[in-house]
Amino acid sequence: MPDTWQELEAKYFLRTGGRRLKVTVERGQGAYVWDTEGKRYLDFVGGWAVTSLGHCHPALVEAITQQAQKLFIASNDLYTIPQVQLAEWLVTHSVLDRVFFSNSGAEANEGAIKLAKKYGKLKKNGAFEFITALQSFHGRTLTTTAATGHPEYHVTYTPLPPGFKLVPYNDIEAIKQATTEQTVAIMLEPVQGEGGVNVPAPDYLKQVRAWCDQNGLLLILDEVQTGAGRLGTLWGYESFGVEPDIMTLAKGMGGGIPVAALTAKEHCAVFTPGDHGTTYGGNPLATAGALAVLSYLVEHDIPANAARLGEYLRGKLRDLGAKHPFITEVRGMGLLNAVQFDRDISMDVVNRCIEEGFLVNPVSPSALRLMPPLNITTAEADEAVDKLDRALSKVGAAATA
Ligand SMILES: Cc1ncc(COP(=O)(O)O)c(C=O)c1O
Repeated sequence: MPDTWQELEAKYFLRTGGRRLKVTVERGQGAYVWDTEGKRYLDFVGGWAVTSLGHCHPALVEAITQQAQKLFIASNDLYTIPQVQLAEWLVTHSVLDRVFFSNSGAEANEGAIKLAKKYGKLKKNGAFEFITALQSFHGRTLTTTAATGHPEYHVTYTPLPPGFKLVPYNDIEAIKQATTEQTVAIMLEPVQGEGGVNVPAPDYLKQVRAWCDQNGLLLILDEVQTGAGRLGTLWGYESFGVEPDIMTLAKGMGGGIPVAALTAKEHCAVFTPGDHGTTYGGNPLATAGALAVLSYLVEHDIPANAARLGEYLRGKLRDLGAKHPFITEVRGMGLLNAVQFDRDISMDVVNRCIEEGFLVNPVSPSALRLMPPLNITTAEADEAVDKLDRALSKVGAAATA
């Protein structure tokens, strides 16, 4: 029986993405979601690396329920309490000094790019160019599309805002060669998420940091996907031993609540009143939710769980490689991981996983990405591997039939 919601979606929505997982989810709890038929799925997509504490975590539900009874919104002409508390929390738990709240990762990055451009005008003779990486993903606004290292996303929207030079990721020489008098900042993900879970060499970001220091460039780390514990440290930059000048956050910091942050060190916090703004950014409901999520993450040492379970999961997934020879690589850090195949079977595998009650992301035609909650248990990791194993067996059997 066709799903009515899916038919209605096809009728009413602009055709932007195409929902590849043909499941209509109705509720979630912890690492699980349930569809409209009541079928349960272990959810290793998590809203695309958003559900850092799983679905509907009691700490988050409690915080937004309390806040919803007090105040949802106030204009940013007024002071509100949760946004100041969250800003203080972010500053005291990171190397960044100042915060601007927005509603999505793209918006936070847009703000970061504006901040760096102003810095270029004031402190670098009008330098305005950014070096970003191929395979990167920074968002879907026009400027963050220009920053994103997927030229196929650019073609429909040319001419795009100028000033973005794309270089291969994990290649310090390429950055050096692309740097000119006009360069103001280098913008990178500590680990590329949408690009297929690309973990750079351990010293890559250190080399980039040193190059920025030698040339007076800003290092912008887009931690929309890697921040808030995903890589096994609270912030991704800690995993690589560097400090960014500007860091952007979204996804996991809200655990499901739309909230994002642009954070900057004092030396480049050059915005003055009127330079930037937003109606909803920093609203009390979202910031109360994010404060609850981040506080819980730290108080319960959840990043350490992500590091431990990530290691465990990669080990188990590598064991699967012995049984399913079309697995060529398991890569990742913390609980941001990918399984690479030697052929374009990821959609087949995803569909078999759905049959098994397991949601996983086809990050490329030949790779799966796993982004479970950061507080998953060993039993949930085992369940994921068992379900994937069964799905892979079915795909393997079909391929040889
Ligand atoms: C690294 C990174 N930056 C930015 C974004 C865009 O975030 P949003 O979809 O919240 O605008 C994403 C989304 O996947 C991301 O992974």
